[in-house]
Amino acid sequence: MSGPAPKSTILDIKPYVPGKAKAAGFAAPLKLSANENALGCSPKARAAYVAAAENLHLYPDSKAIALREAIAAKHKLEADRIVLGTGSDEIFSLVCQAYLSPGDAMVQPHYAFAAWAIAAKAAGARVVSAPERDYAVDVDALLAAVDPTTRVVFVANPANPTGTCVPFADIQRLHAGLPEHVVLVLDAAYAEFAEGVPGYEDGMTLARTAPNVVLTRTFSKLHGLAALRIGWGYAAAPIVDALNRIRLPFNAATPAQAAAIAALGDSDFVARSLTLVREMRPRLTHALTNAGLRTLPSATNFVTALFPEGPEAARAMELHLAQCGILVRGLSGYDMPSALRVTIGSDPEMLEFECALRGSAAAKRAGGSLGRNVPGSS
Ligand SMILES: Cc1ncc(COP(=O)(O)O)c(C=O)c1O
Repeated sequence: MSGPAPKSTILDIKPYVPGKAKAAGFAAPLKLSANENALGCSPKARAAYVAAAENLHLYPDSKAIALREAIAAKHKLEADRIVLGTGSDEIFSLVCQAYLSPGDAMVQPHYAFAAWAIAAKAAGARVVSAPERDYAVDVDALLAAVDPTTRVVFVANPANPTGTCVPFADIQRLHAGLPEHVVLVLDAAYAEFAEGVPGYEDGMTLARTAPNVVLTRTFSKLHGLAALRIGWGYAAAPIVDALNRIRLPFNAATPAQAAAIAALGDSDFVARSLTLVREMRPRLTHALTNAGLRTLPSATNFVTALFPEGPEAARAMELHLAQCGILVRGLSGYDMPSALRVTIGSDPEMLEFECALRGSAAAKRAGGSLGRNVPGSS
């Protein structure tokens, strides 16, 4: 039997593989695999989410007016130039659907967030990856990869899975080198964690004035609302108009809108989340370097470490940690098979991670594997 065949580019798509959530034998493993917020979410956001349960029979506000106004007030933006998405993932898809046709190209850095390529290929486009310079975005390589078929360029700053960021001056240079008919998507999912990095800016100022820049942000990371799937884009009015035409009418659920508004108003939770990352990032980096690994400079809520001994060693550590009930992200799907990505956790979580890491070093010295936790105990 030969059923319908999907468009050829669809079968070329590597399905997205999320960070692992299960460790055999552990009811509640320590999940350091998806860059979620170790503190959970704002209690105010949770209360707003619960209160929204009163009206589950009603459709959401399809224009998300209150949320767009809250975002606009927070970031000093024009509310009518903000478009809401089911996670910022959906904004990537909308941009690709609106601006990429079969035969067009999307250009991205080599170590790119996987959702972009899925969105581009779903729109029938080719994906061109430009080399990076020591795991950081290389603007010259990106510009060199642009040709007359290029319609969209994606960059995350700071980037996932590397955690590195580039100065805003580089992004400005990239933008200046692109023809105006090319859409530049600046994915700023981790922007808040880059505060204080010299020369860093998320790109909002560029999106404010340029006709071809889409800045995206998310409530999944700093605000800890990943389960609610809510993110947004900010761009020139004609781009927002195009995205709104193809956006599903009720793409932002009422509880998600309500929780996001409350999250924006909870500066205490935001401050605590930022403090945690600020305090734990050097500590996690230190633990990884102490274990003999090379860490990439992180401007995010995770640290990516390279194993000088290669992919086998990275895989063995991922397995060892899983046997201790700790889940980290192996990066072979991102063409970094010698690397692991570790989300920053709370103080006790980092302690647990450090013990497991030390346990692995001890096991290596003893020539065997050493699991710290008894399966089922956590
Ligand atoms: C660089 C980057 N952009 C976007 C996202 C997705 O964000 P959202 O949950 O808003 O779809 C992630 C999630 O891990 C990410 O790492």
